[in-house]
Amino acid sequence: MASSKVSVVGAGGNVGSIVAFSIAMQGLCHEVILVDRDVNRAKGKALDMNQAAAALRSHSIVRAAESYEDIKDSRVVVITAGFPRKPGMSRDDLLFKNADIVSEIVEEVKKYAPDAVLIIVTNPLDTMTYVALKKSGFPKNRVIGMAGILDGARMTHFIHEKLGFGAGQIRATVIGGHGDYMVPLPRYSTVAGIPITDLLTPQELAEIVELTKNGGAQIVKLLGTSAYFAPGRATAIMVEAILKDSKKIYPCSTLLEGEYGYEDITNGVPVMLGSNGVEKIIDLQLTPKEKEMFHRSVESVRELIDTLKNNNYFEDKR
Ligand code: NAI
Ligand code: 2OP
Repeated sequence: MASSKVSVVGAGGNVGSIVAFSIAMQGLCHEVILVDRDVNRAKGKALDMNQAAAALRSHSIVRAAESYEDIKDSRVVVITAGFPRKPGMSRDDLLFKNADIVSEIVEEVKKYAPDAVLIIVTNPLDTMTYVALKKSGFPKNRVIGMAGILDGARMTHFIHEKLGFGAGQIRATVIGGHGDYMVPLPRYSTVAGIPITDLLTPQELAEIVELTKNGGAQIVKLLGTSAYFAPGRATAIMVEAILKDSKKIYPCSTLLEGEYGYEDITNGVPVMLGSNGVEKIIDLQLTPKEKEMFHRSVESVRELIDTLKNNNYFEDKR
């Protein structure tokens, strides 16, 4: 594979380190750069991952960034940096804190890797994708949010639990924003090509939908922090599709400009990923009920974006 570089900002943390580790273990690129404001943590993780790559005889080199200059000319930059919600912090507090972090990082990406594809992971996901898009000024195809692959993987897991067979043959589709109003779509979910609507009762399907929506919260309750293995792997899948120009279809958060009937809003929909990032948006023909669910999801993301807009977030020089 051609020599290439992927940088992960927030790589000292849980999700970022799994993203970087996955990429290095798969040998997806020549160099993986770990950026974190905790430089020692990034250095420690880089050493550990490098030694794992050596054990595996992967050609990927993992290196901690001393400064943002080290992300120079990255093909892909992943942003996982951000705060989880802490006690006493409102949803809006988190929104502004993480928007500031994403904006600050995007400034550096503009300077050192202006041609990179940006993958956003920081929550609230769809809103942070919008922030990165507006603050970077990058074309919409080069700013993509990760959530749908993760939520679809969770739904796949719950379908398997319910069926008791089909592991490795289940494909589940979740669209909408990464939040309480995500839209799991049983109608677009299959086992070995068989629609799950043929295999499970409406009651069982409703249970799977609820389990999927609560998939993240279920893990937070058990771990005391949010999930990282599945989110990290899901992000690496996007990186792989971009580096290999695979043209595979995955649900990702992207800017809608007329698709699904919405304008100027980021939300999760199936897209084709290739070397230019989002190369195509698939406009699904939703039923009235699915449309209603998608609408609620879009509006919940719009509310957060409007909170930023009403505070002149996209006009001032924060
Ligand atoms: P974490 O706390 O383990 O890691 C965050 C890392 O970001 C830390 O190492 C921290 O030092 C670094 N950081 C913070 N500010 C920074 C800055 N300005 N510049 C560089 N580095 C900075 O958190 P975790 O679990 O890795 O989660 C990261 C983010 O991903 C959170 O916002 C979380 O909610 C989100 N997330 C999103 C998912 C999705 O499906 N989109 C799934 C899982 C997590
Ligand atoms: C998750 O779904 C918290 O967004 C994170 O696990």
